Amino acid sequence: TVGNSTNILWHKCSVEKSDRQELLKQKGCVIWITGLSGSGKSTLACALSRGLHARGKLTYILDGDNVRHGLNSDLSFKAQDRAENIRRIGEVAKLFADAGVICIASLISPYGKDRDACRALLPEGDFVEVFMDVPLQVCEARDSKGLYKLARAGKIKGFTGVDDPYEPPLNSEIVLHQREEMCDSPTHLAEVVISYLEKKRYL
Ligand code: PPS
Repeated sequence: TVGNSTNILWHKCSVEKSDRQELLKQKGCVIWITGLSGSGKSTLACALSRGLHARGKLTYILDGDNVRHGLNSDLSFKAQDRAENIRRIGEVAKLFADAGVICIASLISPYGKDRDACRALLPEGDFVEVFMDVPLQVCEARDSKGLYKLARAGKIKGFTGVDDPYEPPLNSEIVLHQREEMCDSPTHLAEVVISYLEKKRYL
């Protein structure tokens, strides 16, 4: 039995991940960007995609907001639905990595347990967690979408950081401290991640 299904077997094909990686001249992996709303996850994902693309690497972004427009449009922000959102994005990211793509997942993913379950889907080292360690006050001061204001006014219930939890990761491969006064550019932050991937021989 696999999950809720019985009588299903794994079908293997002679074209494997290693063949696809050879074709693409890159290694498939997942870069998982976690952090509060407004911490710069999507901006970093985009800068990272641009930087890698310029180096001739195939990337694909799975952004929480965007995936919730389609595949995950049936999910709310209750803990159980967030867990399912993260699980599905983790599984899709795994498929992209298997396709040989550098998959950049960018979603709040507030619970450590859910993030670790996604990590466990991939071979050791193929899941690179990037924590956008930006204080709530900074995210809230930016309030680029005006959602913190709505949450403080009680017009959005269960908003992460306001009246819903965010569990900061303790063992991220990369921690980015992006503070207003430092004004770190997205390109600079993307370079930090790219240097890490180079060091680990992913590029
Ligand atoms: S999660 O927790 O990982 O399932 O969230 P995610 O899929 O990344 O979606 C986060 C974006 O949805 C908007 N939004 C909310 N965020 C947090 N809490 C509540 N209640 C909420 N309602 C809507 C918000 O714009 C988030 O966007 P980002 O890109 O993180 O700013």
